Amino acid sequence: MKRITNLFLTAGLFVAAAGFVFTSCTKEGPQGTAGTNGKNGVDANETCKQCHAPSMVDRVAVEFQMSKHSYGVAEFEEAGNGACTSCHSEKGFIYVCQNNVPATFSLVNGKYVNNYTPDAANQFGAIGCWTCHSSLHTTYGIADLAFTTTSPVSMTMYAGLKEINIPSDSGVGNLCAKCHQPRPVTCGYDPAGRVLNYDSLVSHPDVVAYDSALGNGNHGVKPSYRLGVHYGTVGAIFAGVGGIELAPPGGVSYSNSKHTTVAACPDCHMASPMTGIAGGHSFSVRNSKETPLTSSTTFNFNGCNADSTCHAKEPITATSTYWATKRAGVKLLLDQLADKINGLGMGHNILHADATSANLWAGITTGNWDGYLDFYDASANPTGYWKLTSTPKFPTLTNAQLGAIINFQLCLREYSLGIHNNSYTTALLTNSIKSLP
Ligand code: HEC
Ligand code: HEC
Ligand code: HEC
Ligand code: HEC
Ligand code: HEC
Repeated sequence: MKRITNLFLTAGLFVAAAGFVFTSCTKEGPQGTAGTNGKNGVDANETCKQCHAPSMVDRVAVEFQMSKHSYGVAEFEEAGNGACTSCHSEKGFIYVCQNNVPATFSLVNGKYVNNYTPDAANQFGAIGCWTCHSSLHTTYGIADLAFTTTSPVSMTMYAGLKEINIPSDSGVGNLCAKCHQPRPVTCGYDPAGRVLNYDSLVSHPDVVAYDSALGNGNHGVKPSYRLGVHYGTVGAIFAGVGGIELAPPGGVSYSNSKHTTVAACPDCHMASPMTGIAGGHSFSVRNSKETPLTSSTTFNFNGCNADSTCHAKEPITATSTYWATKRAGVKLLLDQLADKINGLGMGHNILHADATSANLWAGITTGNWDGYLDFYDASANPTGYWKLTSTPKFPTLTNAQLGAIINFQLCLREYSLGIHNNSYTTALLTNSIKSLP
């Protein structure tokens, strides 16, 4: 979709343009700048006003107050917390972008560690204007709105072996996907810390991934409450990459919805004008912050319906087929897959449920699953049921069953019930269901 393209250039391109100096430009506010080398000074007021105007920065700053990037608190919780800060802090994010920090793993003292980490001096900072527009106040011109990155994203889930690329709108979706990407599932047993070989889950579906009888004698994956891909699954699902592409007999083939190539995240998440608290720099499609997510609510569909190449002819509404029916279809598949996964527990659910607002996905499934496993964990899940070495012992899992659990997390935690990429979501869920007994 076509958007204001003069802004869609990455930061690096503009560094060279910062040739003029604003010696008298202080933080107190817009002032003129001294002339240098006999040339006239630049009227700072004029360039400042390209951004410092009621319709620009002033408006955006208020919209941004409604964004979880702004009101969320994860940046405080995770400050100084190593790898977490590449996505949960401004300085960390800019560091991994500007230094091209790889998503690879290295073997250090017998354990694999993720290299996708900013250095210790850059592990804090709230997500704000400078996080995404990191060239602000370098040339003091409009070009400073350039994005921190628009490059294809080397996936940390795959230790850099796969890439998310959202080509539309000059790659602005890659800015979002750099943070909104799944994290790696790593081995708890020897070789500890190594990324799971996801390919083997597909190529050897019947091989045992975790043997209940062996307990701590296993190799590879160690089941736990947090086993899984973390929260940012949208980037991968949207781009149609990174799911465990199980291929059971009679399964469906993998493909992507049109969104993958013709839309980028801001098209729907930064729609204009705002509807209540949705659109613009709120980054929200939903005009509500209540839970459960599926309770009656309104949305900002201005982005979906703005363009004749998108849905202008048959506008999306909360009751249109392309919303209500599609979402109901994916919800049914999520519910069915949850039932199958829980069936592996033979009497007790495998998945952890939480109907409170602590579950970011409350209401998306009938069972209010949050994608965690109902494992005993002294701090995170003290009432959890399953254990590794004492009873009740977590059951044996085959590769296909582990793959299906990962796919359930990917498809639940993309939040939109398939709107991001209906074809890919439907294929992952359908084939996962068919792969389980
Ligand atoms: C490319 C857009 C852009 C241009 C051009 C621009 N600014 Fe800013 N400026 C911003 C943004 C964005 C903020 C942060 C606003 C916020 O946090 O609410 C900001 C904040 C400020 C602040 C508040 C203090 C701070 O640093 O957060 C001052 C003072 C300021 N700008 C002065 C200027 C002056 C003087 C000029 C011209 C010489 C200028 N700006 C040009 C985008 C711009
Ligand atoms: C620097 C990393 C980073 C970038 C870049 C980023 N996000 Fe986020 N986003 C986050 C984090 C972290 C949160 C959750 C913050 C919290 O809970 O404190 C979040 C929250 C959100 C939410 C709210 C989720 C909810 O549960 O309500 C939306 C929507 C969102 N981001 C969309 C986007 C879009 C669209 C883009 C690109 C234009 C983007 N984000 C770019 C890290 C990022
Ligand atoms: C690859 C990027 C990335 C990394 C690395 C990362 N996170 Fe996140 N995290 C996100 C995103 C994106 C969200 C917001 C998801 C949403 O709401 O859609 C999030 C959400 C969260 C939340 C939920 C916040 C809320 O709004 O309730 C917590 C807690 C969290 N992360 C903790 C961590 C911890 C701890 C680490 C390190 C062990 C970590 N994250 C590493 C991307 C990341
Ligand atoms: C999570 C990333 C992100 C953050 C944080 C962010 N922006 Fe933006 N900004 C964008 C994107 C993406 C666009 C392009 C929007 C589009 O395509 O419609 C944009 C566009 C803009 C524009 C152009 C006009 C417009 O409304 O689209 C201005 C001005 C702007 N941002 C200012 C700000 C200010 C001020 C802040 C802090 C209060 C901020 N941005 C924080 C991603 C971000
Ligand atoms: C075709 C429109 C569309 C595009 C493009 C899109 N989204 Fe979404 N997104 C949605 C819808 C619809 C929801 C569900 C809103 C709801 O139910 O609250 C959603 C939900 C989310 C959420 C959960 C937060 C919330 O407010 O519920 C995040 C985070 C998110 N999207 C991030 C992204 C990212 C990152 C991209 C780009 C990789 C992206 N989206 C692209 C439509 C879109």
